[in-house]
Amino acid sequence: MSFPTIRVFDSPGPAVRELAREVGELIRSRAAVGRQAVLGLATGNTPRPFYQELGRLHREEGLSFANVISFNLDEYLGLADAHPESYRSFMHRELFEHIDLPAQNINLLSGSLPEADIPAHCAAYESSIRAAGGLDFQLLGIGSNGHIGFNEPGSSKDSRTRLIHLDRLTRRDAAASFGGLDQVPSQAITMGCGTILEARRIALLVWSEKKAAIVRDAIRGPVTNQVCASFLQEHPNTEFYLDREAAAAL
Ligand code: PGA
Repeated sequence: MSFPTIRVFDSPGPAVRELAREVGELIRSRAAVGRQAVLGLATGNTPRPFYQELGRLHREEGLSFANVISFNLDEYLGLADAHPESYRSFMHRELFEHIDLPAQNINLLSGSLPEADIPAHCAAYESSIRAAGGLDFQLLGIGSNGHIGFNEPGSSKDSRTRLIHLDRLTRRDAAASFGGLDQVPSQAITMGCGTILEARRIALLVWSEKKAAIVRDAIRGPVTNQVCASFLQEHPNTEFYLDREAAAAL
């Protein structure tokens, strides 16, 4: 088995600078031959400094996202699109407003559809990823329970984009930003583990000592659907970008 590569940095700053440089090179090398770069994007606190760095590369170093197609990992179900905690709002606020990614190239799951329309929406999302040529790069965080996207414990390795019930831990972790546990949606739509694992390159970012134990389980523990990030042990091109605190239990 090929374990993923583990990179440990003193702090998130140098980690995101290195990763953003790599993604910038992917985008530029594709643009040079008239092709698009297909990026899978993530939300949460962890990717914020990465998005700031992408914004800086755009502003200060002329990196254009005109040839990028993006797909986001997941979305809460039952929030209006404009709700400040929707991942759609997050992405516009944290990244899309600061770069020149064409609006028609942005793919986001919708959390405001009636439940009956969700299977078709998920199938269309999978088709759009395939039509774009698949994900060149997927950015990930990890949940306290080892989830990637919203693939909660029990999600199968070959799962696809679908509706999911959120785990108790996931909802608890989100309670503060929603102003209370009862305000946190109980369902979401997420790319599946199978969808994610088809990305040609994956970077999973983790900062903070609170995630040290789950990082150890994901990297050193058995490959199990109880810790979906452990599936990455079997992915041929994944790197974990950790700060010292997140790497403390390895
Ligand atoms: P966080 O979430 O970046 O807000 O810690 C990560 C995740 O749940 O995937």
